[in-house]
Amino acid sequence: MNTIQPLPHIAATKPYVPGGKLHGAKGPVAMLASNENPFGPSPRAIEAARAVIGASHVYPDPDYGALRSAIAAAKGIADVSRVVQAAGSDELIHLLTQCYAGPGDEVLFTEHAFSMYRVSAGAHGATPVTAPETDMTAGVNAILGSVTARTKILFLANPNNPTGTMLSIAELQSLQDALPPHVLFVVDGAYSEYLGPAYEAELRDLVDRRDNTVMIRTFSKIYGLAAMRLGWAYMPAAIAQIYQRIRGPFNVSSMAAAAGIASVGDEEFLTMSRDHNTKWRAIMTDALNAMGLSTPVSHANFIVSEFGTAERAAAANQHLKDNDILVRAIGGYGLPTKLRTSVGSAEDNQRFLDALKAFTARR
Ligand SMILES: Cc1ncc(COP(=O)(O)O)c(C=O)c1O
Repeated sequence: MNTIQPLPHIAATKPYVPGGKLHGAKGPVAMLASNENPFGPSPRAIEAARAVIGASHVYPDPDYGALRSAIAAAKGIADVSRVVQAAGSDELIHLLTQCYAGPGDEVLFTEHAFSMYRVSAGAHGATPVTAPETDMTAGVNAILGSVTARTKILFLANPNNPTGTMLSIAELQSLQDALPPHVLFVVDGAYSEYLGPAYEAELRDLVDRRDNTVMIRTFSKIYGLAAMRLGWAYMPAAIAQIYQRIRGPFNVSSMAAAAGIASVGDEEFLTMSRDHNTKWRAIMTDALNAMGLSTPVSHANFIVSEFGTAERAAAANQHLKDNDILVRAIGGYGLPTKLRTSVGSAEDNQRFLDALKAFTARR
């Protein structure tokens, strides 16, 4: 037996299952499994990252002042000291859990929540607790009914991944108002840009209503910087101070920081990406429904479709793979009869719909 043993809660933690790549493809693959931006990064972000790569021997600015100021300016945040950067929002999920929950504590999220919340709770020895959803949607009362004296963190993605469903701002406020003050409320706005600036501002203002609320965000989705690993959060000053204490001193690369600064300033790219998503999400939803595949209303850049049985969902997934189209099986999220498809380029979306039409015509 190996004498070097991990802590028992680490050994018991099941890893996150990523969308992955399609191996053995015959031609170009339609990558519709990871909710990436089909347009890639903003051209300005590529230029900005290129401009700093030659200085890669120098450590980044440990304060990330330029990045945090650019984010604060773009998102209407007055106090830059309450904006923090991270290597993707996954790092924020991990570090916030590390700061606030451990053995004996509970970390709460909903039934079909983004799976990193469970991974992170387990990795820090906390007990993951799930609140039931109704029609694949989180509910204020169900969440509150699952809070105990031991609940330390509530993670809620709004819109949620993989369902695409969300609570209204009024519901988030009533949840926030009723949440006991010992619970840190982490609102994950990974897909908030797809709803537009008014919703982004509402989410931001939620943070200012209470001293227990944090909003985490990512550059991996609409900003098209998934490989750069860049995230940020807006939080109460006391929580920001704790976070700054334990994050890596250089947790974001200079390339990622430069790309982030250029991206938040590129309104045109953002609007174009959002409009494309809104247009194609409606086209794809209608087409899926016309094939007899029901879909919950999605507010994000992906759509869940219902195949009736797990076997039929698996067969559809295989048929798509045979046609070099990669979507996401979501059995691991308790949704084995469904598949999740990202909104991709016009061409890839059409390929997906054509292939699925051929499948549903047969079975
Ligand atoms: C809801 C949600 N939160 C966080 C993340 C993590 O994003 P990243 O670590 O790339 O910023 C994702 C990625 O899929 C997500 O869907």
